[in-house]
Amino acid sequence: MWSMPTKVFFSEGCVEKIPTDIKNYFKTLGKKTFILTSPSFASTSKRDELKLFTEQLKSNGIEFEIGILNSGEPTLDQINALTAQARKWNPKFLIAFGGGSVMDAAKCICLLLANEGTLPEYSHRGIHADTKRVQKALDLVCIPTVFATGSEVSQYAVYTDEKSKLKLTVFSEHLKPVFALVDPKFALTISYEQTVYNCFDVLTHSLESYLSTSEDHGVLDRTTEAIVSSVFASLEKIKNDSKNMEARMDVARASVLAMSGFLSLRSGGWPIHALAHGLAAYYKLPHGALLTVLLPRFVDFYVERGSEKAKKIKSFFPKEFFKSYTLTKLLKDVPVNLDILEKAVDHALQLDGIWKKGDEPYLKAFQPIFKNDGLSILKNCL
Ligand SMILES: [Fe+2]
Repeated sequence: MWSMPTKVFFSEGCVEKIPTDIKNYFKTLGKKTFILTSPSFASTSKRDELKLFTEQLKSNGIEFEIGILNSGEPTLDQINALTAQARKWNPKFLIAFGGGSVMDAAKCICLLLANEGTLPEYSHRGIHADTKRVQKALDLVCIPTVFATGSEVSQYAVYTDEKSKLKLTVFSEHLKPVFALVDPKFALTISYEQTVYNCFDVLTHSLESYLSTSEDHGVLDRTTEAIVSSVFASLEKIKNDSKNMEARMDVARASVLAMSGFLSLRSGGWPIHALAHGLAAYYKLPHGALLTVLLPRFVDFYVERGSEKAKKIKSFFPKEFFKSYTLTKLLKDVPVNLDILEKAVDHALQLDGIWKKGDEPYLKAFQPIFKNDGLSILKNCL
């Protein structure tokens, strides 16, 4: 099923000067909101985008309280603390003003404010685990300031439970934001290196189910190919001119399209994200950086196994991405431990390996990815 209930408004400058009809839309959600953001926006001495935005809420009669997600990717402890803060304020809806981590944490808070129980009880833990269904959630508005995760339109939120060392996912139709305000101006200050990481998240979202089957899916596959060629073209423009607004807008559009659910009409696994989440449980690296390393190795893995689709996609990739980014370079002085790579594959198989051949779990892909295949892909990332 493809359901895309999120209204998405795209425009340069639409956050610092919200169009009147959009302002009126905010009013329909309630008069009291909780805004989740990151420290870089909360500190008005550094940036004034959030201040400009909240002044417009105030003049529109909407009261707000601000919560700050202090570290990068959200942890269970932080989400619980922010939920307690939000519960005291008793908002009618939430606003996520930040990148993928802020949007994901806001979804978790929207879930916890509307349902009984703990976040792990609602988290996906493999097919055999007993997972509570999300029955409802508070309305969420997303203002993405990074264009990568597509969380502004998706039903997914990822967080880390530091005690169990598991990177867990919650998902539900109820977690899809009601509205997203997309302003590519936010991307103008993002470095080229970070933009590469963001683009590889977008590329991987559009390529997971494309690469993990051998059938052709017509318009779905043509859409993926268009996203891939367009994102690489935009990346080249941004490399030469970081303020290229049209290229920044195109990446933002691709980010939304890749996670709008349309491409999930294609059946196929998400083995690249499974291994990225496995690695992230042990190495503190940004999600997009891990995908910048993993995606080219997956493309090669599929090419070696005779995938015509992977061959076609490889022709879109600039050659530098098969050489410049490795796990060893990203980790700098942290030694890569083979035992940890094995644990990362086990983590992926535990949470995403819902398929089994005999007793042996595998990740669903163009050909099954068993533990040894996963390990050999990760060794190629070194
Ligand atoms: Fe992702």
